[in-house]
Amino acid sequence: MRPINNQQFRIFPLLTLPSCTFSPLSAFASWRENSPFPAVVFRAASQSLGSVFQLFSLSTLDFLSFQVSAFRFSLPTIMDLLTCDLPGIKKLRSGKVREVFDLGEHLLLVATDRISAFDCILPNAIPGKGEVLNRLSTFWFNRLDFIPNHMIETEVSLFPAELQPYADILRGRAMIAKKATPLPVECVVRGYIAGSGWKEYQESGTVGGYKVHAGLKQSDRLPEDLFTPSTKAEEGHDEPITWSECRQLLGDEVALRVRDMSLELYRYGRAYAASRGIIIADTKFEFGVKDGEIILIDECMTPDSSRFWPADQYQPGGSPPSFDKQFVRDWLENCGWNKQPPAPELPAEIVAKTAEKYREALTRLAAPASAPN
Ligand SMILES: Nc1ncnc2c1ncn2[C@@H]1O[C@H](COP(=O)(O)OP(=O)(O)OP(=O)(O)O)[C@@H](O)[C@H]1O
Ligand SMILES: [Mg+2]
Repeated sequence: MRPINNQQFRIFPLLTLPSCTFSPLSAFASWRENSPFPAVVFRAASQSLGSVFQLFSLSTLDFLSFQVSAFRFSLPTIMDLLTCDLPGIKKLRSGKVREVFDLGEHLLLVATDRISAFDCILPNAIPGKGEVLNRLSTFWFNRLDFIPNHMIETEVSLFPAELQPYADILRGRAMIAKKATPLPVECVVRGYIAGSGWKEYQESGTVGGYKVHAGLKQSDRLPEDLFTPSTKAEEGHDEPITWSECRQLLGDEVALRVRDMSLELYRYGRAYAASRGIIIADTKFEFGVKDGEIILIDECMTPDSSRFWPADQYQPGGSPPSFDKQFVRDWLENCGWNKQPPAPELPAEIVAKTAEKYREALTRLAAPASAPN
């Protein structure tokens, strides 16, 4: 270390670092008199010695690239949301992805950036994921207005005053919804044979308990759309149930109603998505009861609740690349993890590719159609 001779430098404090002349460690832009470019000097002041020491200096370019990396590094901590607590607002439930808050008459649902795979929440956040899920559900809830749903408000500036202090956290990823009593069944609809449906078909020639004719290839379109419900497990795996078990659980009238609504929603969604180059191979809906009426709740045809395939890469006989978690699943399959919690940390590259896929799903489906020429 050598003492700085202030006569050789013109010194300017850099506001981007916690620098001030009184702090023991500070950073300054310094122009040597014989150079047009400033150097960045980090210096330490020693009160006992009564002098200032130069620790090291960086060229302007090195300093700028350091600042850019520091900014990029700090971005995820500003923008990603793994958990969400809103002091003063009562949290009712923390799901795999959503945090549910009690607003009295209504609920506040906040979609975090959590991602789960193989029924395990991963340690990473996927930047922008919560917003994609919320915006896509909002898009569908608006379009699918022939079935009542729980959505009340997504515009944060119109949220109640008690939520305004949290506007920056909530913007884009939150929805005020009707408080319903969820039905204890997940309403799965399949238009194509994939995942557990394909596994069951290979073992028993059935899908969700329905006999399906022989000779189908993996990912083939099913001869007819199938309603294959499952239980809604509080924790762990949702277990598939047969149609008669579903009727026993819900009662005939409700079971028939949610089956018909699920098929109608799926068929509409599939036809629309096809026009945007996406195959919705299957999806899962949740319904709840509000004031005696059955309404669609939770999320709607997002990459988390559905299998999205890019139509231009669809080829029966294998597993088409899916829009969302394919990179995550492939990486987890190959990293030697035993699929028991805790899950390993994903590499930055997998996180970035996954975030990009979620964004693409939203853009493809919800972007306004390009204007006719
Ligand atoms: N309008 C609503 N009224 C009551 N409960 C709701 C409503 N909308 C959603 N929920 C519940 O809020 C929770 C949302 O959490 P999240 O979407 O993370 O679900 P999860 O059940 O943990 O996982 P997954 O949906 O992947 O099975 C779910 O338990 C869902 O049933
Ligand atoms: Mg859910």
